[in-house]
Amino acid sequence: METKTLRVETDCDKKLNIGFKKTCNCPDNHINCLTPKEWIKGQVAIWELYYEGRDIRDKDIHPAVFPIALPKKCIELFTHKGELVLDPFVGIGTTLIAAQDLERNALGFDLNKEYIDFIDERLNQLQIDFGEVTNQLAICDDALNIPNYLNIETVSLCVTSPPYANMLNHKRLNKSFRSDLRENKHYKKIQQYSDNPRDLGTMKMNEYIEALVEIYKGILPFLKPKAHCVINVNDLWENNCRYPTHSFIIEGMEKIGYQLRNIIIWDKRNLVNKVGIYGWPNNFITLSTTFEYILDFWRSP
Ligand SMILES: C[S@@+](CC[C@H](N)C(=O)[O-])C[C@H]1O[C@@H](n2cnc3c(N)ncnc32)[C@H](O)[C@@H]1O
Repeated sequence: METKTLRVETDCDKKLNIGFKKTCNCPDNHINCLTPKEWIKGQVAIWELYYEGRDIRDKDIHPAVFPIALPKKCIELFTHKGELVLDPFVGIGTTLIAAQDLERNALGFDLNKEYIDFIDERLNQLQIDFGEVTNQLAICDDALNIPNYLNIETVSLCVTSPPYANMLNHKRLNKSFRSDLRENKHYKKIQQYSDNPRDLGTMKMNEYIEALVEIYKGILPFLKPKAHCVINVNDLWENNCRYPTHSFIIEGMEKIGYQLRNIIIWDKRNLVNKVGIYGWPNNFITLSTTFEYILDFWRSP
């Protein structure tokens, strides 16, 4: 299996030549390559996911990585082999790893060059030599510039976890099951992706939603009709107020032409401990540490 990492640091108006057509023999009217039995498991709208040995959980490398299992499940549900997957906020490339495993072509974008450099290493370690040739490319650029790289109606799935507004601009707590097993040097520290003003992780809620929606507006013409667009997100607590990021995103996405298909709950109780009793004894709040949202939209046919 061939993989490539591309570094492009300036705007570019050259369309990428990357595979996007299905290479399997599944009937054209099938949404994926799954058997009915496998499909049924995908119908359960509460997902429990596990990290595996290859997952990167070192916060010095990246502060907010999702497990390979998350994009993997989405890719299996919404694409065929050979098709093209897009991650507009690719971080250190977890979606690209999942795509490589599943023989899908994939493109990922991130503002932070250090993350893009890391992806290069990560993908090359994992080469397995069988199956169709697919490419996974990581590009260092603002997701707003994605239209410069793609051809119309070529993407079968857009899947990502964007920054959760300026959530990282808070002191980190100690919530992981593993917190007893190791020193947590990030405890009570603020750790952001970057201080780039275009980094969505630096933005307050209104500005964040506006910037996110503008990026997705640019992406829409590049999705195939009925292509799914999955966004993993969490709500924000600030100054004892809940900001329902997930519902702001739904509202924004529907305004620009995406249609909401499913809301899936990522149940994180197998990964998170020490939720605490915030608000006790006179105020009931849950800090959304035990679950996250997986919002599933599509480009309507
Ligand atoms: C939650 S992280 C994604 C992590 C990724 N799922 C992984 O597993 O590695 C969000 C990423 O969005 C990137 N980012 C923020 N604003 C961006 C923008 N305007 N364009 C592209 N990437 C951006 C950040 O650098 C950060 O790596």
